[in-house]
Amino acid sequence: SPKLEYLLTETRGRVAIVTLHRPKALNALCSELFYELNQVMKDYDNNKDIGAIVLTGSERAFAAGADIKQMKDRHFIENYTEDFLGHWTQITKVRKPIIAAVNGFALGGGCELAMMCDIIYAGDKAVFGQPEIKLGTIPGAGGTQRLVKAVGKSKAMEICLTGSVNLSAEEAERAGLVSRVFPADVLVDEAVKTAEKIANLSLPIVEMVKDSINTSFETPLSAGLNFERRLFQATFASQDQKEGMAAFAEKRKANFVHN
Ligand code: CAA
Repeated sequence: SPKLEYLLTETRGRVAIVTLHRPKALNALCSELFYELNQVMKDYDNNKDIGAIVLTGSERAFAAGADIKQMKDRHFIENYTEDFLGHWTQITKVRKPIIAAVNGFALGGGCELAMMCDIIYAGDKAVFGQPEIKLGTIPGAGGTQRLVKAVGKSKAMEICLTGSVNLSAEEAERAGLVSRVFPADVLVDEAVKTAEKIANLSLPIVEMVKDSINTSFETPLSAGLNFERRLFQATFASQDQKEGMAAFAEKRKANFVHN
């Protein structure tokens, strides 16, 4: 695999751990970093031995946002013709579950990146915010969209309109942005534990759950319920549904073959 400049990668059993590693800039998301991230995520998505992915940063910062120094002199026409930040959406196409383990700052693009993941766990010192307005711009990768769905309109407005009202880990958990908070030093291990649990279930069925929940954001309820029911019906074409239900009836542990 190609040498990575801004990421560290590791696998533990069926779990891949991807660590944002640009310590000099609090993991600011320069375009090179994001290209590496897209490539690594795509490789793990296509790797049969991986069932779930944990994305983390350092104890000080998950990511402090898009790289302000790199983008400050850009112009509208190049942004438009190159679809600036358009490539950030690739990570949302990953079919396997991604757990964000957020310690420290998750600001601007960092908060948006965490929200592109499927589950967010936070370390107790994590800080979530959308400070773009203080730079004379607006969130460009989901801060005004996904955040509303996660915390509701009033909190999202307050966070994005002031740029300085941030959510602590505890507040983020209470608001529903984050599903659990852990002491910073055990956060990644806890995220890996959950990832292992998921990775030991049937991968195609896990992917159907992710697909179905994500569909709820894009469709009216009746269409979403139809989509869900069709996938539910389709699980009966899998070996793992036969195994899972037989194991229950026989009072033994299921042995999934990801098929
Ligand atoms: N881009 C580029 N460099 C950044 C950066 C960013 N987003 N965030 C931090 N850095 C750099 C700093 O410039 C500094 O570099 P130097 O040592 O070379 O000066 C280094 O990281 C350490 O940062 P600080 O010295 O500022 O650390 P601090 O502890 O005093 O402050 C902070 C931490 C409050 C997070 C502060 O760094 C900060 O406000 N960062 C910017 C946060 C921000 O505005 N993010 C939104 C970016 S725009 C965006 O993301 C658009 C989008 O929607 C996609």
